[in-house]
Amino acid sequence: MTSISGKPATAGTRPTAKQPRTVAVFGAGGHTAQFVVAHLLKRGWTPILSGRDATALRACRDKYGELETRVASVEDPVSLDRALAGATAVINCAGPFLDTTAPVIEAALRAGIHYFDLAAEQAPVLATFEHFSEPARAAGVVVVPAMAFYGGLADLLATAAMGDWIRADEIQVAIALDSWQPTRGTRVTGQRNTSQRVVYANHRLVPLADPPPTRTWSFPAPFGTQDVVALPLSEIITISRHLRAAEIHSYMNLAPLEDLRDPAVGPPTAADESGRSAQVFMADVIVRKGGEERRAVARGRDIYAVTAPLVVEAVARIAGAPTYAAGVMAPGELFDARDFLAALSPDDLVVDMF
Ligand SMILES: NC(=O)c1ccc[n+]([C@@H]2O[C@H](COP(=O)([O-])OP(=O)(O)OC[C@H]3O[C@@H](n4cnc5c(N)ncnc54)[C@H](OP(=O)(O)O)[C@@H]3O)[C@@H](O)[C@H]2O)c1
Repeated sequence: MTSISGKPATAGTRPTAKQPRTVAVFGAGGHTAQFVVAHLLKRGWTPILSGRDATALRACRDKYGELETRVASVEDPVSLDRALAGATAVINCAGPFLDTTAPVIEAALRAGIHYFDLAAEQAPVLATFEHFSEPARAAGVVVVPAMAFYGGLADLLATAAMGDWIRADEIQVAIALDSWQPTRGTRVTGQRNTSQRVVYANHRLVPLADPPPTRTWSFPAPFGTQDVVALPLSEIITISRHLRAAEIHSYMNLAPLEDLRDPAVGPPTAADESGRSAQVFMADVIVRKGGEERRAVARGRDIYAVTAPLVVEAVARIAGAPTYAAGVMAPGELFDARDFLAALSPDDLVVDMF
């Protein structure tokens, strides 16, 4: 086993033609956005707080100091243009992403700035690749959907596990959570997201079987062997865009799904001054080719909180890159996955390769 975590987060990026180190955070009043804003500040970036609710933006500003707030709505493109003016990039934290992705990407393209979102839903991520790849290339910007715990992390782990393999027979993702206190955004997104889920089977996206397949999965400690159910999210879309495998499947253990189904389970509560909850997660990715197997396992605390270092590292890398390939990109397509994961602080994420 090799550990690829351990380096402290790095902060440096070169200034750009836009206001240097300035990022618009859309949906800044939300729970995950609070971690994103805090992490941007920790790394020396200036967030512009944007969203549709002026009161929530003011509350965020009061928490973090003298930050600019710009009220904007996805129904009003001019307000979005004002919200993004002068920023180097926008991080869209406002979900359901079925409702926000297209108008915020369109605004980013008009502004000529990079776009990142946190979509776990498959449909808006697929639509982003299908509708915005050419416009993003033409605008010379990078659009990265699903740069978050669900989606982006599994994509990076799968890319890291593939290493020098050009193709694999199978990529399997398994998520284990000890519990799940969902935010309002998670619950609303779950209700809003009625699209048919897809998996990648025999080299193409196909509908998930009904009922979803179940099996057991042997996670490393502390989770051990668990019953899991197929739960394909945005990682199926991103991974299938750039890694060659005949089969790509995702699973989750059952305890967090029982929490999600229980309306009495409330939103996450901070377990310490970092604001993170006590929730423990593991993301386990196995790639197989013939009789060979490679594995990358990430563990940490709080799936909402860990999204912040992931997306902020992505922004910093793009803003600091002398050159980059413009277009809609999966995280593992855009970044050196092992280097990216190793750059994260072990306080945020520990990754082991087997
Ligand atoms: N992929 C992942 O791993 C991952 C991780 C974290 C979060 N997420 C996703 O990110 C989204 C937010 O999650 P959260 O935990 O931060 O939830 P949250 O605390 O409820 O925040 C949701 C935020 O989105 C805003 N919003 C929702 N719909 C909007 C719309 N149509 N126009 C403008 N703003 C809108 C909300 O504004 P109002 O207060 O005005 O409604 C609020 O600021 C969810 O879709 C969630 O699934 C994904």
